[in-house]
Amino acid sequence: MLNRSKSESLFETAKKYFPGGVNSPVRAFKSVGGAPLFIEKGEGCYLTDADGNQFIDFCCSWGPLILGHANPNVVSKVNETVANGMSFGAPTVLENELADLILSNHKYIDKIRFVNSGTEATMSAIRLARGFTGRDKVVKFEGCYHGHVDSLLVSAGSGLVTLGNSSSAGVPEGTVNDTIVLPLNHKEAVEEAVKTYKDQIACIILEPVPANNGLLLQDKEFLMFLREICTREGILLFFDEVISGFRVGFEGAAGYYDIQPDLMAFGKIIGGGMPVGAYAARAEIMDQVAPLGPVYQAGTLSGNPVAMAAGIAQLSECLKLGFYEELEMKTDIFTREIQAYADKKGYAFSMPHIGSIYWISFTKDQIREAAQIDTSSMDKFKVLHAELLSRGVYIGPSGYEVGFISEAHTDEALNKAVEAFQEALDVVFG
Ligand SMILES: Cc1ncc(COP(=O)(O)O)c(C=O)c1O
Repeated sequence: MLNRSKSESLFETAKKYFPGGVNSPVRAFKSVGGAPLFIEKGEGCYLTDADGNQFIDFCCSWGPLILGHANPNVVSKVNETVANGMSFGAPTVLENELADLILSNHKYIDKIRFVNSGTEATMSAIRLARGFTGRDKVVKFEGCYHGHVDSLLVSAGSGLVTLGNSSSAGVPEGTVNDTIVLPLNHKEAVEEAVKTYKDQIACIILEPVPANNGLLLQDKEFLMFLREICTREGILLFFDEVISGFRVGFEGAAGYYDIQPDLMAFGKIIGGGMPVGAYAARAEIMDQVAPLGPVYQAGTLSGNPVAMAAGIAQLSECLKLGFYEELEMKTDIFTREIQAYADKKGYAFSMPHIGSIYWISFTKDQIREAAQIDTSSMDKFKVLHAELLSRGVYIGPSGYEVGFISEAHTDEALNKAVEAFQEALDVVFG
């Protein structure tokens, strides 16, 4: 039994300060139960909690840490930068350097604007899409998450093409009325929406690798269909690559599928663990943003030098030859070994994966849309989560979340984790 007495006590204290004891909801361990672990230290692929327990970490701060924790190059670049001051509210050469690193290695975008989170990136880019097209409506897909932007906190109503229902209190109906929510992987729903709202849709936003509600991998054909219909109808195709960007390859899903989006949002990896987001597009679109154009967007800490430094150090590593191939190979081997064991035992279980992202699914069926996920399988996830924790493996505390493998995951750690998964699966299906 895992000793988490210090974490439990810290969580009780935190509850006095923060709603639910946390500063972001999923951290509260609500869907798996028990107190969240308070983390004291991260090193490579390992986490140490307040009680001194050590874990192999597959959450990786929900994706940003593609090099693992406290990568020496990132830490030293950050330290060197911090010593010169933490924020100026004026341009620094570090912004140019990070932008150059990204733009000269990413053929799908010409210009970029740095912000402070993925939410800020999608929110600002939606405004840009509306400003550029002069249209108000936005199409999103059920099962894709784009941060806590009012107009995107919307879930589908009943029916194939629906104006969404707000999925949070506090979002005005007027806002929701401009968001159309469709199921993933349904061409006819998209056709119907563009017909119904002819010349009113500013953009179609999606995670090209939907990774916030399970891993709902789409056929390239569906993504290409979206590209074609957007071009035909004067709608901007908006890839939210906050997770997939710099993860499934340096050029993210756009590069992976070789599809040119009109707008892109980034976050997570580009900040090397610091709070950074960005949105980017071809110059003609980006030049609509203030101060050059009429679409207003600003940020006191945007392009913060310390955050830029972390991003530069991390992305420089990602650009090294073979970086993504190696990560993908590790992920292939890791998932294959667990899958082979589950198959041998006849467990209804699969690990869909792409690049270094994987998901734990309690079915062998391929799942492409949110509605296909059996909610009762989350009971199995809860048991798996507890069994893995007690065996020194930390995964995100929700069965709808994906896992990440970093450069710092060693063969030794991965072999240990495979064993832990195998034992944990025996308990789940025992
Ligand atoms: C695809 C996607 N878009 C946007 C966001 C929001 O990013 P942030 O949490 O940095 O605001 C997330 C966060 O997980 C995300 O996964």
